[in-house]
Amino acid sequence: MSTTRYLAHPSGGLAYHLRAWRYRDTLWLPYLEQVADWLQAWRPATRHLVLIGPSAGYSLSAGFLDRFERISAMEPDLLARVLLRQRFPGVRFDFQDALGDPRVLPRNYPDAAYLFCNLLGQQWTTASRDTWQPALIEVLNGQPWASYHDLVSTERQPRGYTALSLPALISLDDLLGHFWPSGELHLHDHETHGLLPHRPRRYAIWQLTPDRVHLVEWLQG
Ligand SMILES: C[S@@+](CC[C@H](N)C(=O)[O-])C[C@H]1O[C@@H](n2cnc3c(N)ncnc32)[C@H](O)[C@@H]1O
Repeated sequence: MSTTRYLAHPSGGLAYHLRAWRYRDTLWLPYLEQVADWLQAWRPATRHLVLIGPSAGYSLSAGFLDRFERISAMEPDLLARVLLRQRFPGVRFDFQDALGDPRVLPRNYPDAAYLFCNLLGQQWTTASRDTWQPALIEVLNGQPWASYHDLVSTERQPRGYTALSLPALISLDDLLGHFWPSGELHLHDHETHGLLPHRPRRYAIWQLTPDRVHLVEWLQG
């Protein structure tokens, strides 16, 4: 996909920037504060950070970015690149193409930490979940990395917005039952459930629009 076509990408592009402009200081705030807490606690021992799908950095802060000496950003949306530079004028971003084959990460950036910025639950690959999940985990083995990613999204409001921490993976049904304990649930599965089943994980609700909520998972390796 060309970089200009990313303006109409289903997981980003112009529509996403307009939503961010409209909601990031209101509806998105609890979620953004939760991501800030996760990033605050994530302390990779490297000075080089690779951001993957950061958009304009709506979920990032200068304080977090300042912890790194070098920042590469795999972000194909040209408008996102412009806005990212504007939002963080003190940071020099080394922009790179979209992530295709994850093996480029350790090959091109062996000394870096990788942050998947709500990318893994988007349409970033044509491979099926059963193919990309094990392949990605194999590539990331031994590297510092973290990811926050959509797990499911729905029009139904959850029981509450309190974040959840778990010591390991539980079934998707049990997890959904925690946030939506009863009633019918029509959802979009973002196909990220099941990553690294033995790792601790965290969950937060992102009220994307007044009538759409996402359940987001945080994982780190
Ligand atoms: C849901 S948005 C990210 C949200 C953003 N991290 C935030 O918190 O506001 C997904 C982003 O991934 C980018 N993207 C899509 N496919 C990609 C790929 N294969 N590699 C890197 N970035 C990609 C899109 O341009 C978009 O900016």
